[in-house]
Amino acid sequence: MSTAPRRPDAPPDGRKPVTIPHLAELKSQGRPIVMVTAYDFPSAQVAEEAGVDLILVGDTAAMTVLGYDSTVPVSMDEMVMLASAVRRGAHTPLVIGDLPFGSYQGSNEQAVHSSIRYLKEADCDAVKLEMAGVSGAVADKSESIARARSIVAAGIPVMGHVGLTPQSHSALGGYRTQGRNMQQAVQVADDALALQDAGCFAIVFEAVPAAVTEVIMERMRVPVIGIGAGASTDGQVLVFHDLLGLYEGRTPRFVKRFADVKREMVEGVRAYAEEVRGRRFPGVEHAYSIDPEELERFREVIAPGKPWDAADFMG
Ligand code: KIV
Repeated sequence: MSTAPRRPDAPPDGRKPVTIPHLAELKSQGRPIVMVTAYDFPSAQVAEEAGVDLILVGDTAAMTVLGYDSTVPVSMDEMVMLASAVRRGAHTPLVIGDLPFGSYQGSNEQAVHSSIRYLKEADCDAVKLEMAGVSGAVADKSESIARARSIVAAGIPVMGHVGLTPQSHSALGGYRTQGRNMQQAVQVADDALALQDAGCFAIVFEAVPAAVTEVIMERMRVPVIGIGAGASTDGQVLVFHDLLGLYEGRTPRFVKRFADVKREMVEGVRAYAEEVRGRRFPGVEHAYSIDPEELERFREVIAPGKPWDAADFMG
């Protein structure tokens, strides 16, 4: 048993929930937008308290919390469950559900259906989908853009994602930086502009050379959130487990660790184990008491050699 989670009814500090128009305002004012991933109630509460603008329930959950080898295996059901928990812990940030591999590639109808699930079942504010040109999540680019358009047409805000799109890591030949030559840079720009025209409210640029991003930014009217795309974007996103040092998989060059939380957690559990084995935990301060008279009566009832019939004493 643990204590019941406390869910604040109103955003702390009187902060207002972040809206899509507010993001556009931040861009126009040149104020950086902060996005972080979260995958459960406590990580959402951390993001809330830290005052981030956007929470992405990223399909990186596949690796960081579910232990899969890549983002490909995670299902829509698994993602919706995680997103619901995030929603319960987040009141101020805009919560975005990441469409996992296989939840939108099939058809526009499938893409809309999956997006609706995020809104109805997990109370998300928006969805994100990975989109790229020839090597993207849907191989035919016009099809790929049609997915974003149809979700937008259903009234659901969509965040695009270009550059390195990890769901397509096999087609991309691995987790590679995108846009390292002129042709690839054109590809990244074309994907971003097509998603912008399709009505996306924001776009993630992942693993794109900083100088390429800077050039593309001149044409971007919607907020661009970078991860490994340099400092010229309107905002930044990092994976919760990467920035806090909670995950020991391969970390790309663009990750900066701001804490070493896993080490702290291991130390905490190790100290607990040592105290249990050394009979130093629990102490009297962790134990419940009973009225001494009641205890004495109980001792008499249970004394060895006495016939035992609990029914005599239970109401
Ligand atoms: O799934 C995820 O966490 C992401 C971010 C890396 C942008 O897509």
